[in-house]
Order: sequence, then C-alpha cells, then structure tokens
Amino acid sequence: MKTAYPITEHKYDMIVVGAGGAGLRATFGLAQKGLQTACITKVFPTRSHTVAAQGGISAALGNMGEDDWRFHFYDTIKGSDWLGDQDAIEYMCKEAIPAIIELEHQGVPFSRTEDGKIYQRPFGGMTTHYGQGTAQRTCAAADRTGHAILHTLYQQSLKHDARFMIEYFALDLIMDEQGACRGVLALDMAEGTLHLFRAQGVVLATGGYGRAYFSATSAHTCTGDGGGMALRAGLGLQDMEFVQFHPTGIYGAGCLITEGVRGEGGILRNSNGERFMERYAPNAKDLASRDVVSRSMTIEIREGRGVGEHKDHIHLDLTHLDPKDIHEKLPGIAESARIFAGVDVETQPIPVIPTVHYNMGGIPTNYHGEVVQLKNGNPDAVVPGLYAIGEAACVSVHGANRLGSNSLLDLVVFGRAVANRCAETIKPGQSHGKLAADACDRSLANLDKLRNANGGTPTAVIRDKMQRTMQADAAVFRTGETLSDGVRKIREIHASFADVKVSDRSMVWNSDLIETFELQNLLGQALATIVSAENRTESRGAHAREDFPDRDDQQWQKHTLCRVDDAGKTSIDYRPVHMVTLTDEVDVVPPKPRVY
Ligand code: FUM
Repeated sequence: MKTAYPITEHKYDMIVVGAGGAGLRATFGLAQKGLQTACITKVFPTRSHTVAAQGGISAALGNMGEDDWRFHFYDTIKGSDWLGDQDAIEYMCKEAIPAIIELEHQGVPFSRTEDGKIYQRPFGGMTTHYGQGTAQRTCAAADRTGHAILHTLYQQSLKHDARFMIEYFALDLIMDEQGACRGVLALDMAEGTLHLFRAQGVVLATGGYGRAYFSATSAHTCTGDGGGMALRAGLGLQDMEFVQFHPTGIYGAGCLITEGVRGEGGILRNSNGERFMERYAPNAKDLASRDVVSRSMTIEIREGRGVGEHKDHIHLDLTHLDPKDIHEKLPGIAESARIFAGVDVETQPIPVIPTVHYNMGGIPTNYHGEVVQLKNGNPDAVVPGLYAIGEAACVSVHGANRLGSNSLLDLVVFGRAVANRCAETIKPGQSHGKLAADACDRSLANLDKLRNANGGTPTAVIRDKMQRTMQADAAVFRTGETLSDGVRKIREIHASFADVKVSDRSMVWNSDLIETFELQNLLGQALATIVSAENRTESRGAHAREDFPDRDDQQWQKHTLCRVDDAGKTSIDYRPVHMVTLTDEVDVVPPKPRVY
C-alpha cells in the first residue's frame, strides 16, 4: 500500500503489550532469561490498572492457620463452577507458593504477622479441608496490595534492563500467511509516529474490557485492546459470557471496596439491618463466592429490602470493627468511602452495589501462556508466536467465576510461566525472516479510515449506548428476552460505528482517535459477550439465566469460542474443559452441586 504513514521498524526477541502485573512479570522474566524484550504500554507502567487491586493475592502459605495448595486447587475448581481447566488450576495453585516468596524477596512490602510472616486474610470461597473450614490465604499489603506489587515489578524490570515504549498504543497484531504472529504495529501517541515491532513472540497482557459496561471498578483504560486485536486477527475469544460483578462497588461512583473488608469482619445488611447472607450461604455467609453474594444482594433489592431513598443498594457495615484494625488493615477503603460516599466507616455503613469487576473470558491459552484455538479438529492448536496472560487471557483458571485474590496470583504465575516457556523455545537473537510487503496494510487502512472518519455520531455517543445496553441486558441476572433484545441492540450499535465521527485529524496526542480505537476494541468484545451469553442456555458461575436456572453439565461443561469479524458477523465453536491434572499429587474434582 502506498502510504502517507512512514513506519520505523524495530527488532526484538520478544514484545510484551501491556505493563500491568502480568506484563511486567513477563517483561522482566524474559529479560532475565536473556531475551531482548520491549514492553509497549499505553500508560506509564505504574499507572496500569493493577495499581488499583486492593485486598490481596492468594497462596496456601499457611502463615495464619493450616493450609495446603490442594485445598486452594479444590476451592478454585468449585469457584469456577467446574468450567476451569484443572491442569491449569493445579499449576497456578502449586506455583502460588514460590511465586509469593519470590515477590517477597523482590521487595513487595507485605503486611506482617506478630512473628514477622506475611499477613494473610480470609477471602470469599477460600476454605480448608475441601470446604470444611475457613482459610486465611490472601496475602496482603494492607488494602493496597496491587500498588505494592506493581511498583516492585516495575523496579525489577528496570533492574533487568527491559526496554519500555511508554505511551505507545498497540494498533494491530502482524500475522503472516501461515497464521503466525510476527509482531505488532503501534502508534507513539506523543510523537504521532508509527512503529513496527518485529519479534519471535508477542505477549498480550492488555487487561480486561470492563469499560464495555457503564459502571465498573475498572479504570477507563480497561478497553480490552488485546482482545480487540485478537478478534481483528480472526481469532476466537473464550467464555466471554462470564463477567464478574464485585459485590461491593461504591453506590454511584463504582469504585472498589475490597472483599478484604468482609474478610476482616465487615457485614452486608439490608434495609431491616439483617445480615441477609446467612439465608443464602449459611456456612460462608458474607464470604461466599462473588457470584453468589452479588445475586443475593440483587434479590434483596428486587424484593424491596434495598437501602436508601430508592431502595436500590445495600449497606456494608464496619462500625463494629476496632478502629485500630480499620486504620492498620483497611486505610485505603476508609479514605475511598469518605471521598466517594461521604461516610465515616467507623460510624456509618458504606452504600454498595454489585459492580462489573472482572472478565473471566478472554484470549484462550494453555498454562504456558501460549494462545490456542480450535483448528482442524484440534481444540488445543497453538497459534505460533502469540501469547496472552492476565485478565486479557482465558487460561482457563477462573472458569465461570473467579475467586477474589486469584487474579493478582494469575498475573504473576502466568507472567512467570510465559517467560519460562519462551526461554525454552526461543533463541536470543534469532533472525526475523521476511515479512510480506503488505503485512501492515489492513491496520494502516483502519487507522486512516478512523482518523478521517466524518460520520454523524461522535465516539462518546456510541460508547455510551454500548455501555448502557451491556449494563441493562448482560447483567447479574439474565433472561432469554433481555439477552436477545441486548444482542439486537449491540449489533445495531456495532454497525453504527461505520458512522463514527472523529473531530481531531492530527497524529500527535490525538485522544479523540485513541478513544475511537478503544471503542472499536470494546465493541467487538461487547458483541462476543452478549452473543455468547444468549447462546449458553444454562446457569453457571457468573452467568445466571432466570429461564435456565440450573447448571447443565451434560450439555454445557465446555468452553465457548466466539469469533466476531469486522462487519460484526459472529460465529461460535466450543473447546472441551480440561478434566485432567498434571501430576498425581491431586485428583480431578468431578462436578457436584455448588453450595457455600
Ligand atoms: O476485593 C478485592 O480486593 C478484589 C480482589 C480481586 O478481585 O481479586
């Protein structure tokens, strides 16, 4: 293509896209292994969304009572509602222990017990003895654990001389005719210049797409850019129907109040002051899994027992806790509650509501972080040169519902796994081979079209419609009717992107254009989410169909794989759930009823 867009070419062994917890762990791991690595990130690394993670990171260290990684394995499978791949879950729960010790040695300032060990708090769904007792498994740095980990990982990356391309926006994967990934095309937002990063491998660590919804705990930067690029490369996304609502987003503002509050003794109450979770989850109560708590809160509100003028939210009560404990263990949420809800947590409850928090679905991978697809009947066919980790990926360790504090764990375990895998399979300094002359043309055409888009609908208007529709129609509870209505509306909104209007034509720091790229990424994933949700006629984990209230293992214990083409045409395939383990240290856990 004759182009008005000059491209500077760079060659590395490995490229990582995204500098959150997963991206940084992979970046320094790859650099440490001797692979020349560059990390492309649209925000300064320590501004990545991992910084907002509060409550902690799980590992069966047993610092505060008995624990075993096999209990963690069982809890994660049960939490996943038997949609998680058991080989990957075994890998994560076993590797959790060395991964946390490694973080401690790298300098993460964890809170401490009296005898100097890492402090651990209880979190939802985490038990001992396969559901019998309550585990204290979540390692915490007060309620700022993500902040502590992210800063440490960035320092480690600098120590290992990884290269950072900061405020670069990744536009597209560069794939060859054989379907292998050969690099990434990116825009330096400050300079307005284009850069082709050639590499033996590209790791997508771009986070979730929470901003497809109106109210989310995710930062405004969580626009699923990796998932969008994967869809444009013709790849399918897995289990997109499973969207986690965190029970305690601040009512109105949406920001997170950590599950650690309930771990430290906080209680959810309805308008009668009742601790209603005792009725829904008699054993785990407020520390049942998030899908169960979010549904229980929604039922309380629907049945007229919500609090506030409109009876449309719930109270999270900490007033019975010792103020010394609040200030030592939960200082951040005391501040957030004061700023965003105007309450003093020592004397007033926090108004909360289930809020979109996490995408269980994403780019399918195996436990090495290699992207897999269904190809010629092989459900585990590896896409050469392409890797995904963190919330962008679907390993799948979380299945239909993620347990709190398994996310920070997923980031570091699989960030480390991908570095180890690439060190085994990629030789430093290998030549890059020839790339077709038109390899970037499709991406350049998209850039040119959006930069000059002169339709009738501003980006923000399309985004607002998408977010409101997803919020209303792909919610905590779903029905065939709301989903089919939602699919119709999201298809229309997706089509309306052809009429998008971008006002700024410049290349330099064009936030109007960047938001339009982000919207394009979100739209594909919103469509994949709602189409996959309409297709799955059962209830499992976070996907609660009122018209199909039961889990149906016979028909549906399988992963959805959804493709969306540029025109919005969708297609669905399936991959089997891995009901195997890696070693004989654990046995496969067969499906059974899930009660807390
Ligand atoms: O509630 C929280 O602190 C969130 C943790 C998580 O999503 O893992």
